[in-house]
This record gives sequence, structure tokens and C-alpha cells, in this order.
Amino acid sequence: MAYKDLHEEPFDENTITKLEIFEDYAQAWIPTFVMQGPLTICIFDFFAGTGYDKNGIPGSPIRILNKIKEQIGNIFQKKVKIKVFLNEFEPNKKDQLKFHLLRDACNEYLQINKDVGRAITIEFINENFEDLFPKLLPKIQEYPALVYLDQNGIKFLSDKYLLALEKTRQTDFLYFVSASYFWRFGDSPEFREHLKIDMETAKKDPYKYIHRNLIEQLRKKLPTNTKLRLYPFSIRKGSNIHGIIFGASHPLAVYKFLDIAWRRNKTNGEANFDIDDDAKKDQLDLFAVKKLKKIEKFKEQLRTEILAKRISDNFEAFQYTLDEGHIGSHAADCIKEMKKNIEITFDGISPLVTYDNVHRDKKKVEYKILKK
Ligand SMILES: C[S@@+](CC[C@H](N)C(=O)[O-])C[C@H]1O[C@@H](n2cnc3c(N)ncnc32)[C@H](O)[C@@H]1O
Repeated sequence: MAYKDLHEEPFDENTITKLEIFEDYAQAWIPTFVMQGPLTICIFDFFAGTGYDKNGIPGSPIRILNKIKEQIGNIFQKKVKIKVFLNEFEPNKKDQLKFHLLRDACNEYLQINKDVGRAITIEFINENFEDLFPKLLPKIQEYPALVYLDQNGIKFLSDKYLLALEKTRQTDFLYFVSASYFWRFGDSPEFREHLKIDMETAKKDPYKYIHRNLIEQLRKKLPTNTKLRLYPFSIRKGSNIHGIIFGASHPLAVYKFLDIAWRRNKTNGEANFDIDDDAKKDQLDLFAVKKLKKIEKFKEQLRTEILAKRISDNFEAFQYTLDEGHIGSHAADCIKEMKKNIEITFDGISPLVTYDNVHRDKKKVEYKILKK
């Protein structure tokens, strides 16, 4: 690639993981709206970087453009307008080299991929996020929006931004945070100025769970009737834990993110490592008590909910599954097993715990408890 930031290190394996999750989500998000027909959608990359790393590996903005390119035929056919906002700013630097590299890299891309250039409007912005966010918020509120917040550290994960995003109607966001900063500095006045977290509770579990616990604390900050759902994906880098916080209100968005996360890690769907030590759980401990793996535990909980009649159909089962950070197939396996074991019965062969059955086709199936 002609435009590279030679001052930057190459992306490491964990950065690539993060970028792949970002791009997988763009790949799922773009067609969802494009296929709806004529409308305007927006993609915001507030911390866009330079476009490529030192070795020419694409960063988030080029990956966004690539994902738009994959849908180019549908975008033209369905007359969808895509507005892309790419911001890069180096605080305290007079010469905004990274911003220039970003603009050059993307313009070069659009020169080569003229179809993408015709399908989108692109705005290159060189502003401090703090100043820019309130200016772009009306656009985030107005259109279906995909927002990337790939900050260094944690500074911009404050109530101010999180609660503003919570109020938007059709925004899906992916925040990147260095959760290990929290572990170390969460109680310091500098941190508390941005985000007040109950550190005692956040630190109740071992360090590897910090990202999960941080999200648990963030959930408590949301209004009680919020539709916004937050999910973690932890990325371990040496002794540091970084992570993605995915946020969305629509069940389709949640379902798509969880699908991506579980494809990435089939054991826990929430980390690039074995966060719950599930690999060790096949062995019995001294007292012959088998510890349940994450999926097994979920199935057990779901079974309890069904037997207690707190869940009695696929609509409730699907919502519960998403709320617990699982995918429909985990629930379906459990419910089929219950039928096989003559604990419940339902019409047909499938328990219909999928997005399409519940939300698109509104096909309801009841699970009836069988008395033994
Ligand atoms: C983690 S990097 C983003 C990497 C990018 N997503 C990529 O794929 O290459 C964070 C970027 O935010 C920029 N940045 C730092 N402080 C900022 C601020 N206050 N406002 C906007 N951008 C900022 C940095 O210069 C850096 O390029």
C-alpha cells in the first residue's frame, strides 16, 4: 500500500482479533439495512487511526470500506445512501500526521474502488472526540448508525457518552476498552472523573473477569427500563485484558453479535481465551463433583426456568437466551433434550428458538410440562 504510517507498530494478533470482530459486525450490519430499501445509514469511526499498519494490514476504516464494497450491488439496487464519518486526532500535536495518512489511504482506496466512492459520502474529520461527539450526536440519533469507539485506554467510556448512546433509537456500537487500566486505576480521581464504578464489586472476581465485571457495573448505570443490551468480548494480551463492549437495543443486532462471538469462541462466546477454564472441567474433582461448563450451565438454568414455568414458549426462551449471552442453538439443544426425556412436549420437531421464527415470522410454540 502506498500510504502507511511508518511511525506505527504493526498490528499484533490481538489487535487483529479486535479488527476482525469490528469487520464481522460491519459485514452483518450493512446488509441488514441495505436490504430494507431506500434509506440513509451512517457509519462512524471516531478513532480511525491511519488506514493501514506498518505492514499494509488494513485498519478499521479500510475494513469498513471493504465491507461496503462487498454489498455494492445491493446498495445501488436498493438505492441506499451510506454516510461514513472517519475521525482521527492526535491530542497535543501540531502536525496531524495520522489524520493525513488516514485521508490519503482512504482517498487512494476510493480512487481504485470508484464504485464505493459513488455509493457513499465520506467525511474526514480531525477533531478531539470530546468536541466532535456532541456535534455528530444529532446524526447518530437521526439515522440507523454503526459507531466504532476504538480508543486507546478507557477515558471515553464515560457516563456522558454511554448514556447519550443509550438514548438513541437505532445505534449499534462497539467500544474498545483497556479493562486492565480499570483494575489498576479505577479508584483514582482521574478515572472517577470520567466513570464512577464500584471497584470493590468490579474486583470481586479474579483479574481475568475484569472486563465482564466492568460491563456488569455499566449495566447498572442504564435506566431501569432500557432496551440497550451490553455484551463483552475479552481479549487477553500478555498480562493485560482488553475488550470490546458491544451495545445495541434491537434483538437482531444482539443476535448477530452473539453469533459472531460464539463463532469466534465456541466454548464461551465472550473471550479469545478459555476464560472459565472450561477445558479443565471434564475432570472430576476430589469429591467427584463435576463443574459445569458455560454452555452446560446455561442449559441447566434454562431447564429450571422452563420447569418452573417462568419460560413457557419460544418467544420467552429466545429472549432469555440473548439476555444470558447465548445463541439459539444452545437453547434448542436443551429444549429438545427435555422433550426426549419426556419432561416437556411441544408441537413439531423444532423448538423454534431462532431470530427468524420469533421476530420475523412470529411463529409461537408452547412448551408444555409433562407430569411424571
Ligand atoms: C486504538 S487507535 C485506533 C486504531 C484504528 N481503529 C485502526 O484500526 O487502526 C486510537 C486512535 O485514536 C486517536 N486518538 C487519541 N486521542 C484522541 C482523541 N481525543 N480524539 C480522537 N482521536 C484520538 C489516536 O491517535 C489513535 O490513532
